[in-house]
Amino acid sequence: MTTPTITLTGIQPTGELHLGNYAGAIRPLAELAALPRRETYVFVADLHALNGRPDPDQLRDRTRKMAAALLACGLDQDRVHLYRQSRVPAVAQISALLANVTSKGTLNRAHAYKALVAANTAAGRDMDHGVNIGVFAYPVLMAADILAMRADEVPVGADQAQHLEIAVELARAFRRVYRSDALPEPQALVAHTAGVLPGLDGRKMSKSHGNTIPLFAPPEQQGRLIRRIVTDSRRPQDPKDPDTCTLVALLDTFADPAAAREVRDRYRTGGIGYGEVKALLADQLRSTLAPMRERYEVLLADGHRLDTALRVGEQHANQRATETLELMSAAMGV
Ligand code: TRP
Repeated sequence: MTTPTITLTGIQPTGELHLGNYAGAIRPLAELAALPRRETYVFVADLHALNGRPDPDQLRDRTRKMAAALLACGLDQDRVHLYRQSRVPAVAQISALLANVTSKGTLNRAHAYKALVAANTAAGRDMDHGVNIGVFAYPVLMAADILAMRADEVPVGADQAQHLEIAVELARAFRRVYRSDALPEPQALVAHTAGVLPGLDGRKMSKSHGNTIPLFAPPEQQGRLIRRIVTDSRRPQDPKDPDTCTLVALLDTFADPAAAREVRDRYRTGGIGYGEVKALLADQLRSTLAPMRERYEVLLADGHRLDTALRVGEQHANQRATETLELMSAAMGV
């Protein structure tokens, strides 16, 4: 019996998921989790969100929606241990222990903090103006997330690579200072950016570009957004290149493969207009997402049901994090 590979990732409760999140992160994660000899932990990083001091009701709502969305997208208890970060108190305790092997200099050099300092300096303000310790110590909490579950692999976007390096640094420091092998060194699985999903304007679909289609918006609203997708001025009878068209990229990702293939053929020979493709895309999207949307709505309608769906994952995560906390505490003498 080989021990399973532990994979872990966290997702911030940033409002609504969009089609790009689903295609680029959630679906690949569900596929990874389905591989043999793997145990996967996925959590909603609600503690991390606190450093922006969001409105409490809004944070609660976003956390609930994100957890429901992840469950609805197939990250359910058959595949992953899904949990809300704040429901695993040992994570915050581990973060407090790790603070003692974290050098302040490492945090001074973290990109997010440095960007805030640079903005303050440019504006002639005190360098730490408006910077709370939650922001400053963000990488320590993130290391705690990872090390609490003793994760082997952490799939992240390229923007998180430095945070992973810091997690490795803290695991090493803990080993060195306490002569303890409680914390294995995690490895980053940095997402390759090939094949990103284009948004309404043809650029990468991203909240920061304001070009997204929300995953669980009502189908009518998705249809309206699809009609706004930017295309060129070729007429229906003109031949078109399917490989440079946003509509085809979305069909490839969300439509029945045979339907997508047929559209690709008709692009090459000419004889299909963008209006027709948009209607087909809206239709295909509606039927592909229907089962997920239904699960999402059922979970959101009833908070008790969501808690029940998360119970097993949260119990498991608590057990594992508590084990780690005990190993660390014993090594540290508390
Ligand atoms: N910082 C990550 C982000 O903004 C979210 C996150 C928090 C995370 N803790 C993590 C990702 C642990 C991977 C592992 O996207």
